[in-house]
Amino acid sequence: MAVNKPQNEGARLDNFWMPFTANRQYKTTPRLLAKAEGMYYTDVEGNSVLDSTAGLWCCNAGHSRDQITDAVSKQIKELDYAPTFQMGHPLPFELAERLAELAPADLNRVFFTNSGSESADTALKIALAYQRARGHANRTMFIGREQGYHGTGFGGISVGGMVNNRKAFNSQLLPSVAHLPHTLDIERNAFSKGLPEHGIERAEVLEQLIALHGAENIAAVMVEPMSGSGGVILPPKGYLKRLREITAKHDILLIFDEVITGFGRVGDAFASQRWDVTPDIITTAKALTNGAIPMGAVMVSESIYDACMNTAPEDTIELFHGYTYSGHPVAAAAALATLDIYRDENLFERARQLETEWEEALHSLDNLPNVIDVRNTGLIAGIQFAPSSEGIGKRGYDIFTRCFYDGVLVRASGDIIAMSPPLIMESKHIDQMVSTLERAIKQAI
Ligand SMILES: Cc1ncc(COP(=O)(O)O)c(C=O)c1O
Repeated sequence: MAVNKPQNEGARLDNFWMPFTANRQYKTTPRLLAKAEGMYYTDVEGNSVLDSTAGLWCCNAGHSRDQITDAVSKQIKELDYAPTFQMGHPLPFELAERLAELAPADLNRVFFTNSGSESADTALKIALAYQRARGHANRTMFIGREQGYHGTGFGGISVGGMVNNRKAFNSQLLPSVAHLPHTLDIERNAFSKGLPEHGIERAEVLEQLIALHGAENIAAVMVEPMSGSGGVILPPKGYLKRLREITAKHDILLIFDEVITGFGRVGDAFASQRWDVTPDIITTAKALTNGAIPMGAVMVSESIYDACMNTAPEDTIELFHGYTYSGHPVAAAAALATLDIYRDENLFERARQLETEWEEALHSLDNLPNVIDVRNTGLIAGIQFAPSSEGIGKRGYDIFTRCFYDGVLVRASGDIIAMSPPLIMESKHIDQMVSTLERAIKQAI
């Protein structure tokens, strides 16, 4: 039985069609957050809730940071909005320079968006534009991966591999996409600490797909270095390197969707650096502004940018793409303040330092009832449960609600609990997260 506890009885909840939510179920037992500070939310009833999810993989520096709030307030008073189509203002230029400093290799050209979904679609469009600009107009096909998540635009759901996100829209997906197999292999890799040993051979399927479709028709391979929404699916050792080798051999672009792995989550600025694999394009969003203001950024190699620039006459628009809010001044101010915090508090290194303690604590749950896998990397964990006899996802949801009413926010994705705490976390928070989970797992259906 799920734990039900109504909250906020007076509120009218009918009008908001909530995203990725069982609306009718939620609205009978709403969970409403009212405030946030540091590692904690406070709900509308005044209960404190420890955040083990950084919101939704967003608030890597913890919640309601004064530095970000101040930067946002100052900016909105000074320049609320300015267009970036044939106009400009200093902040996105400054932010792009800062991002280029953090980026691996020469991924120094930055296109701003408002979300991870827009970053994904932007990256795909840049890949097509680049192939065309360099005279490879046939290269239009994309290769994604099963269980991949690249947001909810038509490009993202086409290249992504989440069946529920695709099936209602199936007839209108991008026409030319193939998918690699996912890398979850509980039989061989259950309870791995860090990256799993087995599965590098799944990268070889890329060679088969290329043989089948022809390298000359393929624009790009797009994967998350670590799949978050698909259920915390880690790359087996050597797998990402192999994807890089194969794409390079066939002159195909490699796009890493780092919307959740970016900005310290795996103990380095980007997963690309942590796992020492340099793609051609990286997509970001979420923790770019610590979740405070919507913003995404796509970081592109200089050669891609140059190809798009050099093949167009100087006085023409080189890429017919952009958003009204690309490089929005308030979002850029939030991002700059966020990057300052990450740097000044060494938060990426902190994530790396906490990794072992986090790993040990999470794996203390290995032998609890119905736990079939615990996996982790950086400050990420996935705990997978055998489905209950009541149906797939019921046990995950039950554990999620039990944790919430016991004061810890986790995220349930089917029968997987995903955790991605703010990087400011301390040992006492790890203890609270793990002991709360332990209680919930023992009591759950
Ligand atoms: C890897 C990845 N890409 C893209 C997105 C989409 O981001 P948004 O919801 O900001 O559009 C997400 C969101 O969780 C994500 O995890």
